[in-house]
Amino acid sequence: MKATTLLTRQHRKVEGIFKKLENGRVDPLPLLDELSNDLAAHMAIEQEIFYPAVKAVDEDLILEAFEEHSLAELALKRLLGTDPSDPSFKARVVATKELIEHHVEEEEEDLFPKVEKKLGEERLLELGKAMKVRFDQVVEAGFDAAVPKGFAKTSADVTKPRAKATSKTAKAA
Ligand SMILES: [Fe+2]
Ligand SMILES: [Fe+2]
Repeated sequence: MKATTLLTRQHRKVEGIFKKLENGRVDPLPLLDELSNDLAAHMAIEQEIFYPAVKAVDEDLILEAFEEHSLAELALKRLLGTDPSDPSFKARVVATKELIEHHVEEEEEDLFPKVEKKLGEERLLELGKAMKVRFDQVVEAGFDAAVPKGFAKTSADVTKPRAKATSKTAKAA
């Protein structure tokens, strides 16, 4: 599957989980678990593989994406630390969803079309394959293993310098 198709499908899945959380008709705890694992893995494959590979398409957009991931991760941590009976729980679900919605919109309407224009089908398939393998690994390991503890640093902060090095190596090769 093409990298952009894989990421778009994952976006739809996350939207579905948010919808269920907002409805409030099912136990939120398993949903939060699924949401956090999916989002940690989705952000990991973008930060570690996809963004470095497509950075040349629009460097500013990629830097912005790393920042938006940081904010989404912090919002998600606040949400995970909130008891579902807390009066602010639903508000935190909605606020986190809206942050992510905005980011997803930029990816799908701006970044992905540019990437699809610039990278060939073969390269997108190759990236998609590597990303799917890494996604499954991160989901399996879980949110806590994928993101730094506390609120001082996000997974984007940790990955960005490595992503830079990777893209330099890729350019040099
Ligand atoms: Fe993203
Ligand atoms: Fe994404």
